[in-house]
Amino acid sequence: MQPEKGGRADQTRNPYTPGAGKPPPALVGRESELAAGRTVVDRTAQGRSATAPIFYGLRGVGKTVLLKALHTQADAAGWLTVEIEGKQEASEQQHTRRRLARGLVSAARRTVGRSTALTDTWRRALGTISSFSAAAGATGVEVSLGVDPSRGRGDTGDAEMDLEELVHDMVPALQESRTGLGIFVDEIQDLAPSALSALISVQHRAGQNGWPFHLYGAGLPNVPARLADVRSSAERFHFVQIGALSAADARAAFADPAAEEGVTYEPAALDRLVAASGGYPYFVQVFGDQAWRLAPGPDEIVLSDAAVAIAEATSVLDDSLFHSRWNRATPAQKTLMRAMAEDSGRSQIADLVTRLGKRKPSDLSVSRDGLIKKGLIYAPDRGLLQFTVPHMDDYIRRQHES
Ligand SMILES: Nc1ncnc2c1ncn2[C@@H]1O[C@H](COP(=O)(O)OP(=O)(O)OP(=O)(O)O)[C@@H](O)[C@H]1O
Ligand SMILES: [Mg+2]
Repeated sequence: MQPEKGGRADQTRNPYTPGAGKPPPALVGRESELAAGRTVVDRTAQGRSATAPIFYGLRGVGKTVLLKALHTQADAAGWLTVEIEGKQEASEQQHTRRRLARGLVSAARRTVGRSTALTDTWRRALGTISSFSAAAGATGVEVSLGVDPSRGRGDTGDAEMDLEELVHDMVPALQESRTGLGIFVDEIQDLAPSALSALISVQHRAGQNGWPFHLYGAGLPNVPARLADVRSSAERFHFVQIGALSAADARAAFADPAAEEGVTYEPAALDRLVAASGGYPYFVQVFGDQAWRLAPGPDEIVLSDAAVAIAEATSVLDDSLFHSRWNRATPAQKTLMRAMAEDSGRSQIADLVTRLGKRKPSDLSVSRDGLIKKGLIYAPDRGLLQFTVPHMDDYIRRQHES
């Protein structure tokens, strides 16, 4: 259907997808990450060892959608897959094991449901999944898996030992079906330390023994440091930094989905939008969405439309992305962030100390640590601080001016 003449582009065909974890119309510029994911799946099918990627980067660069895309690859290869998300709240952190167990049981049900006859190897694997899950407080697993729990396997209550036994007992079944077990952890920096440590330790053991167990992850820029803190074996990970799109990819991310719907951009409009978005995927989607909504022409987005869309998208971002994060900070933390916003990009802690009239870096530690814990800032290097949300500094400066 072509857009009606003399009206706006058809809103029902708006192709943009602003929103956390929403798969974009085209996963632009992530070919090498997708290829790395396929390599893990293909090597596993051949019985070879592989290391799954752990993605890290700023807010809104597209880590979650990439993790989901790799999850889909593993599912398509018949793997047993489980998805969990790290949570900041202590109450939620206690339930990691139960969430893992619940995910495992439903993954096992899907896998078993596909095969007609259950082999002894799979029966044993399911028995351990069942006892692991029962020990985690998941009820009714025997019924749902159709096997009795293997008492004494994976049910001591010690996170690390149980997980290792669980994986150990699943390996023969996974090898028999030439698949893998994939645990996909989003916001991995917020996973409870005991769970994170158990997963890392089992990943390490899996690497040594060639077990088809893979820990995939995604999280903030502090993820490599965080994982190294938890376990020194973290250097075995395949960390992959995810950043903004190149200008060419950002153009494609704006223009291609619109072109599919018969709408084109005036080149100057595209230049303006690409520049304003900084190539950050979340901003590309929010700006593209506003341009589509606001452009009066049915089939072209021109420079003046881009200008209006940028203004509107900026206020949408202020209200959604920035405002809630700013409000999560205490007054002292806001003071530190305001001082950081005077720099573009990274701030030197030494400069912040002077700017805030403090005597030494440790005077800022409480606010600094609190903001890192809340996931609002991170330390890109020794003595440096940076916002985890792109353009947060602009937002703070805007607030200050008005
Ligand atoms: N390669 C891409 N091309 C175009 N748009 C993308 C791309 N990757 C992600 N997006 C879009 O960017 C937005 C953010 O994606 P996503 O939620 O995966 O980011 P994230 O890095 O996980 O963010 P956060 O750190 O806040 O969890 C979504 O609207 C998504 O549709
Ligand atoms: Mg995410």
